[in-house]
This record gives sequence, C-alpha cells and structure tokens, in this order.
Amino acid sequence: MDLYEYQAKHLFGKHAVPVTAGEVCTTADAAHEAARKIGSQVVIKAQVKTGGRGKAGGVKLADKPDEAQEIARAILGMDIKGHTVYKVLVNEASDIADEYYVSFLLDRANRTFLAMASVAGGMEIEEVAATRPEELAMIRVDALEGCTPEKAVEIVEAARFPEPVKAQVVDILQKLWRVLIEEDATLVEVNPLALTPTGQVLALDGKVTLDDNAHYRHASHADFVDRDNTDPIELRAKEFDLNYVKLHGEVGIVGNGAGLVMSTLDVVAYAGEEVGGIKPANFLDIGGGASAEVMANGLDIVLNDPEVEAVFVNVFGGITSCDAVANGIVQAIAMLAAKGEPVTKPIVCRIDGNNAEEGRRILNEAEHDLIELVDTMDGAARRVAELAAARKAGKQG
Ligand SMILES: Nc1ncnc2c1ncn2[C@@H]1O[C@H](COP(=O)(O)OP(=O)(O)OP(=O)(O)O)[C@@H](O)[C@H]1O
Ligand SMILES: [Mg+2]
Repeated sequence: MDLYEYQAKHLFGKHAVPVTAGEVCTTADAAHEAARKIGSQVVIKAQVKTGGRGKAGGVKLADKPDEAQEIARAILGMDIKGHTVYKVLVNEASDIADEYYVSFLLDRANRTFLAMASVAGGMEIEEVAATRPEELAMIRVDALEGCTPEKAVEIVEAARFPEPVKAQVVDILQKLWRVLIEEDATLVEVNPLALTPTGQVLALDGKVTLDDNAHYRHASHADFVDRDNTDPIELRAKEFDLNYVKLHGEVGIVGNGAGLVMSTLDVVAYAGEEVGGIKPANFLDIGGGASAEVMANGLDIVLNDPEVEAVFVNVFGGITSCDAVANGIVQAIAMLAAKGEPVTKPIVCRIDGNNAEEGRRILNEAEHDLIELVDTMDGAARRVAELAAARKAGKQG
C-alpha cells in the first residue's frame, strides 16, 4: 500500500526523522484554520498518490490564512494525472538553501535492500538517474546488518554530501532505515531532503510503500487505508480477508487458487467476445483450503456487485473438498435469502477434483433454479457469458 505524504510524514515523526508541523485538511475552511494555527508562511500540498504534484500546480505557498484558504479551494478537487485531490496538507513553509534526495528500497532483482542518495534533489530522481547517473549513489544494504552508522557514512560519502550536513544526514538515514524495517515498508523516499539557510536538514516530502503481507503485524496501519478512494466492494472483501479485485465486466468470478482464477478471467473474456463483449467483473480467489463459510462470503461479495449479471464458480478441489464448496454455495444462497436479499442472478458452477461427484450431487439435490452445473471450464465460461449477455440485453431492451 502506498501512503500519502501526510501519512508518510506521520511515520517519519514517529521515528524522529525531522519534519515540520502540518495538518491534513479536506476543506478550504479547515486549511484557513490550519494556516492560522501554524502562524507563519505555509505550503499547501495536494495529497495524491502520484509524483510531479508541484509541476501540476498542486504545491503552492501562502503567506496568510486567507490566501491558504483560497489556494486550498483551488487545489481541492483538482485532477493530477487522473487522481482527484480530496485532501491537502497545510504545512509550515521552510526556507530552502539546498535540496537532496535519499531513499531505501527493496531491490528484489538483487535480493537485497538498496540505498539511493543524491545531492541533486528536488528534481525527479528518474531524470537524475538518466542524465547524470554519476550524481546518484546506489549502495546495497544487507538485510541482516541494516543501515549501521558505518553504512550511513558510506552512503553519505558516495553521494558527496557537503561536509557541514554529513552528520545530520547520517543520523536521518539511520532513522529512515528504522521506518523501513520497523514499519515493514518496501520503499521509504525523501525528495526533497532540504537544507535550510540556518543549516538544518528536514524531510519536506515523503513517500512510503508498506508491505501488505505484513499488515497483520501493524494494527495502527489500518488507519492508513484510504476509504474514500477504494472501491466499496473491495473494502468489504478486505474485511472478509478475501483476495478480491474489482474489474468492470458483467460476470462475477469465484475460484480457488490465483492461477485458476486468472485463467478463468481469460476464458470468460474469450467466450464473452462471442456474445457482444461480456467481460469478467472481478478477480476473487477464495484460496486453496477454502471452507463453506469462505465460499459463502465470496458469493455474497460478488452477488452484491450491481454490475454483475451472472456468476461463474470455478473450483478445482485439491485441499478443499468439492462437497464443502457445494455446501458453501447452498449455504450462501440460504444466508442471502434469510437476510432478505434473495439471489436473483444465475450461478454457473464447474466443480472438479477432490470429491467432485459428491459436490455435484449436493448441488443437484438442492434443485435451485438459478444454479447450473457445467462439466468443463470452457463450456461453463460460454454458458455464463450467454446468461450475462441475455440479462444485460433484457435490461436494455
Ligand atoms: N514545507 C515546504 N516549505 C517550502 N517549500 C516546500 C515545502 N515542501 C515542498 N516545498 C517545495 O516544493 C517542491 C515540491 O514539493 P514536493 O517534493 O513535496 O512535491 P513534488 O516533488 O511536486 O511531488 P512528488 O514528490 O510527489 O513528485 C519542493 O521541491 C520544494 O521546493
Ligand atoms: Mg517531491
């Protein structure tokens, strides 16, 4: 999960990386109040998860609260590279004598961590890397040893930081390393790391990417989840701990195992072309050892997507036995009916593998009007695409 600047700076503050006072605001009035509290010149910064905000007009200085309010009004709602601005950070402005760049990231290709540093900060680091690679120091950091004081000195020397700031940058690097390790991040980046005329080094910007696989170790990170910008169905799926990605087609997909689900998306898209461009509505992997309850939750999520016209349940019983899956489907339908949301969308099932016969028997016995069993994956994909196309045409006609 990528964090917003204000969230990254919150983690910086927690680990004593020097940052200046700031407040995140969703309205122009709140920006006025935040600027008044800060009491000096402020910078209003669009909070979007993309780079180049400054160039797009999303970073502006304001001398007075009235001006801050006016600027915030202009920036809120702005579109920056396809990202709508819902929040601005009103931050104390700093005088800047020089701008540097530092980052730590996971270097997967080389199975290590990498520190990058440059005294050519402020500008896009990709540009520095492309045009003046000699000004970008890249130093490997061993995962077990970490960023020791010696390692931090090595980075600072390699990037040729000026003598007077070296000690501060060495200290900041070790603190940023702690952000990376203790918060389970895969990227921690500061651009610019600024030098003030009085000789202080400060993080004026921050980018942090957290490792979602470590989410369970950090209860406090739940607050970082961006509810306004996340699809509501994805949010619900997350609460059920389901691996769900919203797409924009008409066929809801429930499968077990990421590989099977990916190929299910392919066969549905392929079959859908024959019937006027029907597409998969989501990716949903209920996992290898999925229980009846997990199947019920999965179906609940998919059936509640208003774009879904028909559902394809594609299960290959391995660890999961097909009778459990079939029971899950039957229970899900009963559960939804009990909630007053009876299933009205057809469900095409292809069930194979461990205990498939028993699974099919359970579904046949349930004699549900909306459940259809198809033997092959291709056949099921064609059938579900037809059903979705017919329902869609029925609505339009
Ligand atoms: N607190 C601040 N005080 C004074 N100037 C600032 C402050 N924060 C940012 N700036 C100036 O604005 C420039 C752009 O800010 P910042 O790096 O946060 O955004 P960006 O580089 O446009 O966005 P991104 O890093 O997402 O590409 C900085 O290089 C700096 O010159
Ligand atoms: Mg920046």
